Amino acid sequence: MSSERDFSDIITSLAKKRGFFWGPSPEIYGGSSGFYDLGPLGKLLKNRLENQIRSAFVRANFWEVECPTVSPAEVWKASGHLDGFIDPVTKCLKCGQIFRADNLIEEQAPGVKISGNSVEELTASIQMLNIICPSCKGGLGPVEDYNLMMKTRLGLDQDAYLRPETATTTYLLFKRFLTFFRDKLPMSVFQIGKAYRNEISPRQGMLRLREFTQTEGQIFLLEKDELEWPQFEDIKNENLPLITYQAQEKDKLDPVMTKMSKAIKEGYFQKPAYAWCVHLAYTIFRQMGFSEKNMRLRQHLPTERAHYAADAWDVEIHTDSFGWVECCGVHDRGNYDLTRHQEFSKEKLHVKVNQKPVVPEVLEIAFGIERPLFCLIDNSFQSESKERDTDWLRFPPEVAPIQVAVFPLMGKPELLEPATEIFNRILDSGFIAQFDTGGSIGKRYRRQDEVGTPFCVTIDYTTIEDGTVTVRDRDSMDQVRIHKENLVEGLKNLIRGTTQFHTFK
Ligand code: GLY
Repeated sequence: MSSERDFSDIITSLAKKRGFFWGPSPEIYGGSSGFYDLGPLGKLLKNRLENQIRSAFVRANFWEVECPTVSPAEVWKASGHLDGFIDPVTKCLKCGQIFRADNLIEEQAPGVKISGNSVEELTASIQMLNIICPSCKGGLGPVEDYNLMMKTRLGLDQDAYLRPETATTTYLLFKRFLTFFRDKLPMSVFQIGKAYRNEISPRQGMLRLREFTQTEGQIFLLEKDELEWPQFEDIKNENLPLITYQAQEKDKLDPVMTKMSKAIKEGYFQKPAYAWCVHLAYTIFRQMGFSEKNMRLRQHLPTERAHYAADAWDVEIHTDSFGWVECCGVHDRGNYDLTRHQEFSKEKLHVKVNQKPVVPEVLEIAFGIERPLFCLIDNSFQSESKERDTDWLRFPPEVAPIQVAVFPLMGKPELLEPATEIFNRILDSGFIAQFDTGGSIGKRYRRQDEVGTPFCVTIDYTTIEDGTVTVRDRDSMDQVRIHKENLVEGLKNLIRGTTQFHTFK
C-alpha cells in the first residue's frame, strides 16, 4: 500500500482527471483553499448520495425544509456561535503566517494530549514543546481565539453571517413547526443545504471545505420521549461498532460490536431516542454504500464536544487516504438552542406540559456530503491488475454516478435504432444511463470501469434476430445474454441488490 499522502494524491488526481471534482476553485485564478467544483460525475454522485439520505430521513418520518444561508448577527449571538465557534490560532513572529495551534502541536509533538485545552494552555505547550513555524522555522506568538464564521452585511449597515450549520436556521422555525405538526411532539425535520466555515488554512482537499453541503436532521421532543422512544424496540437487537469515551481514555481504539440494548444497559447511551439517532446515522451511511468493515462510531471525549452538545458520537469512515475520517456527528443538544433563541428573540419557544411551559429538547444528526463523497471514491478505488489494465472504481450500484451504459456494437442505423429504444426505456425507469458509441467495446468497458458504472448493455446483430442483449458486470467482468423485455426489471434487481449477477445469469 502506498503511503497516506500518496494515496490521497492518487484519489484526488483520479477524481480530477475523470470529472468528479476540481480545485481548489477558481482554478484559473490560482484557487482558494477550501473551495471545490464538482464535475459532471461528482455532481451525479452527490445527487445519488442526497437521494439515499433523503429517502432514509423520509422513511424515518422526517420532513424536509429549506432556510436562508445568511442570518443577522443576533441569531449567531443567540446560538452561541459568535462566542463559541472558534479555533485556536497562532501567528509566526517571523513570516506572519497564521496556523491552527492545536493542529500544529499535534503534528510536531505526536501523542501529546491537548484536546479541550484553553488558549493559555496551548500557548504554554507551544513554548514547552518548542513548536515552530512549519514554513520558516520562526517562533510562534500567543494562541488566540479565531471565529470561523464568514461575515457579510445586509444593506448598508446590518452585520450578518453565512450560516456555519443548517441546524440553527431550522431551530428558528420552531413556532411554525408547532402549527404544522398540530402541537404534537416529537417533530422531526431535516435540511440539505450549504454551510460555510472560514477555516484558517484548510488542508486535506475535499475533507475540509470553507463551503460545503450539510445534511442535518433535528428531532424536537420532550425529556420523557427521549426515555420512552417506541422506535428503539425496532433496533434493540442490532449491533453497532462502538468506541466509548471511557475506552478512548484507556487508549482502546478498536470498536466493539455492541447490541443496542446492551449499550443502553451499560450506560453508553443515556437515552433510547438518542441511541436510535446514532443507529439512524449509521444506517444512512450504510445506505450510502459504506461497508461495515470501514465504519465505526466514536463517542466524543467530554472536552471535545461542541458548545451546545451534552453528548456526541461521530460516524467515522476508514480511508486509505487519511485513515479514520470523522464524517457525521450525532448530538444531544438538550434544550440549549431553543432556550437561547427564546431568550434573545423574546418569542415563546416552548410547549405546555401540565399547563407549565417546557422548552423541548433537540437531538441532531449532522454531516456534510462532500466528506462521504470523497470517502466513497477512496473506498471504491481498485488498482489496475493482470485482468484489467486500468484503475477502476467499484461504486455500490445503488449510488454509482452512472448506473448503466448502453452500447450499440457499431454506429450503424440498424443497431442505433434498437439501442436508442433500449436506452430510452432504461432512462424512463429512473436510472442514470449513458449512451456510448465511441471506439471498440473493450475500450468502452474500460471507460465505464474507470468511472465505476456497474452494468453495460451491448446491442448487436443477435439482438435484431432474437431480441437478446449482452449485460456485462463490472466487478466479475462476466457477461450474460438476456431478452430486452426482461432487461429493465433485471437491472432494477441488480442495482437494488435483490439479485446478484451470478444468479441473474
Ligand atoms: N450542526 C452541527 C454541526 O454543524 O456539526
